[in-house]
Amino acid sequence: MEKWMRGDMHPSYRILMGPGPSNVHYRVYQAMSNPVIGYLDPQILACMDEISEMLRGIFQTKNQVTLAISGTGSSGMEASYVNFVEPGDVVVIGVNGFFADRMVQVASRCGAEVIRVEEDWGKKIEPEKIIKVLKEHPGTKICGVVHGETSTGVRQPLEEIGAYCRKGDTLLVVDAVTTLGGYDVKVDEWGIDVCYSSSQKCLSAPPGLSPITVSPKAMDVLRSRKSKVQSFYLDLLLLEKYWGQERVYHHTAPVSMFYALREGLRIVYEEGLEARFKRHEMLGDRLKMELEGLGFKPFAQEGYRLPMLTSVTLPDGVDDVKARSRLLNEYNIEVGGGLGWLKGKIWRVGLMGETCKARNIHCLMGALKEILA
Ligand SMILES: Cc1ncc(COP(=O)(O)O)c(C=O)c1O
Repeated sequence: MEKWMRGDMHPSYRILMGPGPSNVHYRVYQAMSNPVIGYLDPQILACMDEISEMLRGIFQTKNQVTLAISGTGSSGMEASYVNFVEPGDVVVIGVNGFFADRMVQVASRCGAEVIRVEEDWGKKIEPEKIIKVLKEHPGTKICGVVHGETSTGVRQPLEEIGAYCRKGDTLLVVDAVTTLGGYDVKVDEWGIDVCYSSSQKCLSAPPGLSPITVSPKAMDVLRSRKSKVQSFYLDLLLLEKYWGQERVYHHTAPVSMFYALREGLRIVYEEGLEARFKRHEMLGDRLKMELEGLGFKPFAQEGYRLPMLTSVTLPDGVDDVKARSRLLNEYNIEVGGGLGWLKGKIWRVGLMGETCKARNIHCLMGALKEILA
């Protein structure tokens, strides 16, 4: 008999303190075990309406086009560029980390002429630096920035960039994959035109959906494209027809993931946004303090450190891979290593959504004290 026929799979219960996914609430698992029904069943359509409505609240927007794309956070990123970029369009992207660099790759693949506004990894990009480049390129179609750069733990301020983009035709695209549900993302107030996130971080559902919201200004740009959107699957005009009142079949929706996201969002509402942000901020500060007490040093710029993702350099003599494997194998705790050139240099410790609990900090500290000793 083949090995996989002999037994069920029993993944360990891990404390997921990496850069995502985060731990999933038991109610979300329960919701996922509901029966699968059809993608046009009135009960699923009602569930989708509820998801849109709850997402509008969390994105702090009135945007009609607010839905969840079938796919992980990267599908939201792809959708944000493939829908709005036509070949030769100028796109300005603030690059201070791994995911901003991914934005550049995605926009380039869509045929954009990308202008990178570089900053050292670990620092925020001065909004004036981006605005200066936008002024030098008045025809810029999109300005792209990452709100929470998960590779470095930096939070990017958005208000000034949004205020500038709002005055003209440039669309502001924001990656809120890590921040949504754990930090304010004020889409309407800040002038964000396209904002995408993911189900598996501060919303604490499994990976598989990418919430996205699109402003009327961006929808006008989309409707006046000269060429068709290259991607059928991510075409927001087609997705709008499925999520909106027309209910036109587009693809077989992952209904179990809809159940999961709906429950995850309900849990966010039960706690309340303000209380949830406060919890992330308080425990994020506590984690940073405790890690410093053990000799780890903060990597991200002071004043712009993400509450839900703490980046730290390691104390002298600590072996990155060995220490993280001991955490995983002996203590069932996952923390993230560095991405790109930061591999081996920093750790990324997540406190996202359901994982963001004082007891998880205690567990990690206890384990680290033993390992470092
Ligand atoms: C800021 C940011 N953007 C985009 C992504 C890509 O999302 P996914 O891995 O869900 O496709 C991630 C994933 O960690 C991320 O942290």
